[in-house]
Amino acid sequence: MTTPAEQARRTDSVAALQRLLPVDLVERGGRPFDPPAGLRQRRGHGAVQPLTLANGAGAWLVTGLEEARAVLGDVRFSSDRVRHPGATRPQPAAPHAGERTDGNFVFMDPPEHTRLRRLLTGQFTVRRMRALESHISDIAVRHIEAMRAAGTEADLVPAYALPIPSLVICELLGVDYAERAEFQERTAIALNSTTPPPERARAATELYRFMGKLVAAKRAEPGDDLLSGLIRDADPPLTDAQLTDVAVVLLGAGHETTANMLGLSTFALLRNPEQLAALRADPALLDSAIEELLRFLSIIQMGVSRVATEPLTVGGVDIPAGATVVIATPEVNRDPRQWDDPDRLDLHRRRASHLAFGHGIHQCLGQQLARVEMRVGLGELFARLPRLRLAVPADQVPLRNEMLIFGVHSLPVTWA
Ligand code: HEM
Repeated sequence: MTTPAEQARRTDSVAALQRLLPVDLVERGGRPFDPPAGLRQRRGHGAVQPLTLANGAGAWLVTGLEEARAVLGDVRFSSDRVRHPGATRPQPAAPHAGERTDGNFVFMDPPEHTRLRRLLTGQFTVRRMRALESHISDIAVRHIEAMRAAGTEADLVPAYALPIPSLVICELLGVDYAERAEFQERTAIALNSTTPPPERARAATELYRFMGKLVAAKRAEPGDDLLSGLIRDADPPLTDAQLTDVAVVLLGAGHETTANMLGLSTFALLRNPEQLAALRADPALLDSAIEELLRFLSIIQMGVSRVATEPLTVGGVDIPAGATVVIATPEVNRDPRQWDDPDRLDLHRRRASHLAFGHGIHQCLGQQLARVEMRVGLGELFARLPRLRLAVPADQVPLRNEMLIFGVHSLPVTWA
């Protein structure tokens, strides 16, 4: 059985890759709504470009939409950093003879990924999502009322953007929200690309311990939550290690992502008043607004990558076996072959599928939930606080340049 520390190292491979990328490909500097400068400079240099990593290894950068789809839709591009460590080599390749014993399916290939993904999909039922929707509305309204009751100014991140998805994922997994400090802080440390690896490993290990205890509690006393459902439905049963991994993945993926989309989307709309006015005038625009914000903001910046398991060709470029391929999502989502004037936020834009949720077998499992959280979260916020605006100059809003998931650290707003 793999240990929590080994699991942590696997998860760390995303951070390891980020550290090997040139900084100007990762950090947006002071321009929160533009792709990082290095990506913008590479425009016109091809949809699949060679890239040299900090350790001297050659890699490939994919900036075109069709090419990114081709990579993510082809399972010969592996997600498994243990069997195919690629250029990042987060750990020595483990001599895996048989099936993997862990449950971190984000870093698995078929057939192991298929079984866990199918089990999880079975838990994200329409019934459960519907039940969550009214719950999400209650949470959003309650937090807006609390902000109003406390005055006329707030930092929107801790007051609104973070609690909504955190409460929802706790509800889904059956985690006691009172214990949120246990996971919010540790997830933040684990997702900070500048955290020294030993500290990150410690935070991740603690997170696994926390979740391990929860799994034991659900085994002893199952409830109506997703973890209990997995314990009940999986045949053959999942091990404690697998369940713990699944829980850690969902907890991390489920709250940091949507929280940052809520914070950054609000910032983007407040900085584009004509777009916000259009949304306020026509709330029916909300669904297409959310798709456009997902495209325009691309908060998972360079976090999606694969390793070629054999020589492969993408967009006419030959990629050797063992090469790391990095999907430059902020650029992919601005592909001029797909969108006119792609650097413009345009809520009326004709819908075209973006890659904010990825593509292929690993496409975001929580995307419908994330959409509901954004629809309710942004809808209630702008409807209930019609005078909402920034409480500080825009250039004083601290950006999450060092984090694996982009967004704002805080968003001081007022509604007086
Ligand atoms: C706006 C919010 C979100 C964004 C932008 C986002 C983005 C993504 C992306 C790009 C991937 C693909 C990773 C890859 O191909 O390597 C992914 C996978 C995943 N997401 Fe999300 N996500 C969001 C919200 C959520 C939520 C709310 C949950 C859970 C409740 C979630 C759970 C997952 C899981 C479990 C996977 C892995 C799926 C697999 O490997 O089969 N995500 N997400």
